[in-house]
Amino acid sequence: MRVVILISGRGSNMRSIIEQSTPNYQVVAVVTNNPSAAGAQYALEQGIQVGVIERHSYGSLAEAKIAVLDRVLEHAPDLVVLAGFMWVLPPPVVAALRGKLINIHPSLLPELPGLDTHKRALAAGFSRHGCTVHYVNEEVDGGPIIAQCSVPVEPSDTEETLADRVLAAEHTIYPLIVNAIATGSVRYADGKVVIQAGAIRDLERSGITVPK
Ligand code: GRF
Repeated sequence: MRVVILISGRGSNMRSIIEQSTPNYQVVAVVTNNPSAAGAQYALEQGIQVGVIERHSYGSLAEAKIAVLDRVLEHAPDLVVLAGFMWVLPPPVVAALRGKLINIHPSLLPELPGLDTHKRALAAGFSRHGCTVHYVNEEVDGGPIIAQCSVPVEPSDTEETLADRVLAAEHTIYPLIVNAIATGSVRYADGKVVIQAGAIRDLERSGITVPK
């Protein structure tokens, strides 16, 4: 399966997907809206093509966002992975990639969509927090949930310690889900996620839960 990953910064999730690649999938390109993204340098070092879409090369931000689609499609992806890509993709791009576009969000959706999730989890006094991998639809952080990984919130946690714990969970769940999509054990059908029973058991053994 051909995978294209979209990043804007650090790229640690991108890196986990590249490092944990299996024979089932290959990261064929990385696309970024930030040419100085640390993750872009890592991808180049791995011999992976990096495409850049910069806001200032287009008449408007809206045009730049639309151009992301062409840049991605050049690589004929079977799966497009958002990994800290900080532009909300507009409806025509989401529609063109429907069922092939996934995201990771640092909360247990539907709790805490949007930004600053770790700070908000602490402020709300949550005892559990975590991350969610989901298919992308037109609602920001609202698409069908594929799987989640939950971590405890400790009384001594700061935003940073909690973020680190969630990020470690992200690095476990995201490559496993990309691989499960590559094998066909996770798929998208008519706006819903379909997961084979055997795959659910395997994911649960890795501490990952899927919605009932
Ligand atoms: C992660 O926390 C991810 O959940 C969110 O953006 C962050 C990206 O981090 N969508 P990185 O660039 O993958 O290190």
